[in-house]
Amino acid sequence: MQKEKHWSRFANDFEKRVIYVAGKQNILAIEKTLGEQRLKGKVLELGCGNGTYSEALARYAQVLHITDLSHQMVSFCQSRHKNLKNVVVERQDCFNLSYAAGKFNAVVMVNLLHIIPNPEAALIEARRVLQPEGTIVVVSFTSSGMSFFSKLGMMYRYFRAYGKPPAGSRVLDVDSISQMLKCTGFSVVSANLMGTGAKAVFARAIVS
Ligand SMILES: C[S@@+](CC[C@H](N)C(=O)[O-])C[C@H]1O[C@@H](n2cnc3c(N)ncnc32)[C@H](O)[C@@H]1O
Repeated sequence: MQKEKHWSRFANDFEKRVIYVAGKQNILAIEKTLGEQRLKGKVLELGCGNGTYSEALARYAQVLHITDLSHQMVSFCQSRHKNLKNVVVERQDCFNLSYAAGKFNAVVMVNLLHIIPNPEAALIEARRVLQPEGTIVVVSFTSSGMSFFSKLGMMYRYFRAYGKPPAGSRVLDVDSISQMLKCTGFSVVSANLMGTGAKAVFARAIVS
């Protein structure tokens, strides 16, 4: 399994840094929209970070597996979500999941696709663990659709919070995420930009 060094450094206060960079209202809006997806059954969250969205996802899931490559993120979430009875916290590499094919009803990736080197490979692996007609929800921050001054402010706050982005990071937009989903065996149900100031792509698709 790979090592995760870049994001692990921020495990103790990652959520605070995200709020500083993207704004609390945008994080709350993503949380609300994720909850509104009403993902039921066995749900898998990949690259969960500090587990910011776990409570919203746990509301409808029968069992929610929240996973991350970083040991530090995993232990943060184990402590943070110890009272959520339907949540299992595990270390998993999104490129090489330890689960059997077809185990999950839904897979969620928030701010993962744009920071990993081969997003298509992660989508193919997500599809493998989904049931036929399973659902995938992808959310990714993007500079697409942001005004010039919002982009400048975001870049400044990003570098202050995290330093240089990790190798393999890229800007994704509605079209590139939709295209990636189609090329990896999904039918896109919806794909939109959301957010005030900062923007995120919010896409929902099903196994085709
Ligand atoms: C930008 S953070 C997003 C965290 C969280 N989803 C959020 O939006 O607050 C990306 C997360 O992906 C994790 N990650 C990086 N590479 C990964 C991989 N190959 N498999 C699983 N998680 C990975 C990092 O450790 C980090 O916690």
